[in-house]
Amino acid sequence: MDRYAVIGQPVAHSKSPAIHARFARQTGQTLAYEAIEVAPERLAEHLAELHAKGYAGLNVTLPHKIAVMALCEAVSERAQRAGAVNTLIRTDTGWRGDNTDGEGFIRDLQRLGIAVAGRRVLVLGAGGAARGILEPLLAQRPAELVVSNRNPWKPEALAEDFKALGTVVPRTHLSLKGDRFDLIVNATSAGHQGRMIALPGQLLATGGDAYDLSYGAAFTPFREWAQSQGAARIADGLGMLVEQAAAAFALWRGQRPQTAPVIEALR
Ligand SMILES: NC(=O)c1ccc[n+]([C@@H]2O[C@H](COP(=O)([O-])OP(=O)(O)OC[C@H]3O[C@@H](n4cnc5c(N)ncnc54)[C@H](OP(=O)(O)O)[C@@H]3O)[C@@H](O)[C@H]2O)c1
Repeated sequence: MDRYAVIGQPVAHSKSPAIHARFARQTGQTLAYEAIEVAPERLAEHLAELHAKGYAGLNVTLPHKIAVMALCEAVSERAQRAGAVNTLIRTDTGWRGDNTDGEGFIRDLQRLGIAVAGRRVLVLGAGGAARGILEPLLAQRPAELVVSNRNPWKPEALAEDFKALGTVVPRTHLSLKGDRFDLIVNATSAGHQGRMIALPGQLLATGGDAYDLSYGAAFTPFREWAQSQGAARIADGLGMLVEQAAAAFALWRGQRPQTAPVIEALR
């Protein structure tokens, strides 16, 4: 039986084993998928060991998404641009790295019917998750793509790194005063601290949508803020989580599972 795993620390809370078990049942495939706790200082050792044991693929979660890149034989272009790897595919001699987070995000927007093309889009935050969604967002041709952050240097660096693919406008949160956006994406981790970031007054245009990469309890502060802005649609990142998993499953197994029933079941 082909074996797969998600590696991270902590990893016991991961929903990936439940998601992949549902994908396997749904597609009639037989596979094993487990969560393996891996400390940062033992990452290289674990990767070699899991390869030697014959694992066919791995998902990579915090805190290894960046460090694992240097341990791959090859890294896809989209993963290089995202600056992180979340999926490993076995080769005869090691691991090939890819990143399905950006694809998962865009597929979730499409599933929800939230458009990007021709709209003014604001990404809040400029960390790893924000970096991972910029390439697929630019590919959807928004009217404008703004990235705002507390630390002003990070959006500047992102704008520079992505300039070959399109224009990313770097801003700070407070400089957004008076602006209006059709889609606001929260890519900060502030929700995990139980708070919404400080923003100027009305930022969402009439009919505008709000999407949070966080889910669970971390989604609550952004959801309440989006409600106060009169958002037409408000979504959390659970769909993105399932969609990025489906993209990894397709890379490993050559078959794309249906995501909607799995998202429904997880809720
Ligand atoms: N749904 C999914 O599949 C999925 C996938 C990946 C990530 N995520 C979620 O995305 C979020 C971001 O993850 P990440 O990996 O990008 O984290 P990260 O690299 O640590 O970046 C965190 C970002 O949040 C900002 N931030 C944190 N606390 C803040 C506060 N109190 N006020 C203002 N800004 C604050 C940081 O601003 P500074 O730069 O100024 O510090 C930075 O821009 C997390 O909630 C994560 O769970 C979801």
